[in-house]
Amino acid sequence: ISLKNLNTFGIDVKASFFVEITSLLELQKALALEAYPKKFVISGGSNMLLTKDIDALVLHINIKGISMVEEDDDMVVVQAMAGENWHEFVMWAIDRGYGGIENLSLIPGNVGTAPIQNIGAYGVELKDVFVSCTAMEIATGELKEFDKEACQFGYRDSIFKREEKGNYIITAVNLRLTKRNHKLNTDYGALEKELLDQNIVYPTIRDISNAVIKIRRSKLPDPKEIGNSGSFFKNPVISRKTFEKLQKKHPGLPYYEVDKTQVKVPAGWLIEQCGFKGVRVGDAGVHEKQALVLVNYGNASGTEILQLAEEIQAAVKKKFKIRLTPEVNIIR
Ligand code: EPU
Repeated sequence: ISLKNLNTFGIDVKASFFVEITSLLELQKALALEAYPKKFVISGGSNMLLTKDIDALVLHINIKGISMVEEDDDMVVVQAMAGENWHEFVMWAIDRGYGGIENLSLIPGNVGTAPIQNIGAYGVELKDVFVSCTAMEIATGELKEFDKEACQFGYRDSIFKREEKGNYIITAVNLRLTKRNHKLNTDYGALEKELLDQNIVYPTIRDISNAVIKIRRSKLPDPKEIGNSGSFFKNPVISRKTFEKLQKKHPGLPYYEVDKTQVKVPAGWLIEQCGFKGVRVGDAGVHEKQALVLVNYGNASGTEILQLAEEIQAAVKKKFKIRLTPEVNIIR
């Protein structure tokens, strides 16, 4: 079976064996199948670059459901199962007036993969509303609860990308959302400007969601039309010293403050400065409106995308002495 429609990059690789998982019991049973010792998990497929056929039993996690765990006058704790589409879940929350994830509108992928890389956009990260998640241990089929601390969230990072990489399948996520006194985040440059342009002074959570959707649509390619995985690299965090040196040479360098000693710089800017914006090699390309996004115009292979990514890394390294690390999980 081809996995082309199951990864947002639209890479055409094949799985030796494939099973659709719609319940915890099915997942447990599939993990116990000794005839297929190698298992490979795919969910929304929005944060991976496949570079070869998958010689394993591919488990497509498609467990659905949203339920209320806790509720009082001010807030709710909601549980969403791993296979729920992230953006549809955000819309579900906004329709009910639940605030906290409106800035994360239109992020591709499913609920279950959101904690792995602590998805974030426009000044909000998943960790800001995260309570806990449930995960099934691949080796044993046992369920385990990870609270926020246990997840060790960082910028596009969690324990599921490090120590526990490949050990667990997240099955459900619990988030705390507000019913009133929403904590709105409108400081991110592009978002602030969009609201201002629309003359919105006191935005609702829906106003923020709509503004985020508009901004994303204007510069990020829709994976349904052009294959992509969002930002391909992380924005590098560099020492303030290095930053100050760089800024002298490149006065236009944008930046975000991290802490006293560190500064984050946009990889998209670095890549654009190296002349890669809009570049196309066969069907692999760099998006014309956002240099941080690599795209598949149709039939690029994972290896072709990877080659382009490596060229970009080498150019940025040469020009700025900065090493870009992929945000996307590369399956080699
Ligand atoms: N920039 C350029 N050229 C480009 C792209 C960006 O000069 O081709 C400059 C922009 O002018 C701006 C700065 O870089 O000054 C930042 O650009 P943008 O606001 O588009 O955000 P980003 O830093 O490139 C990050 C996230 C995105 C997230 C946006 C908004 C990472 C790796 N990426 O991108 O996340 O949507 O901020 O919060 O942190 C994703 O993770 O897949 C993703 C899309």
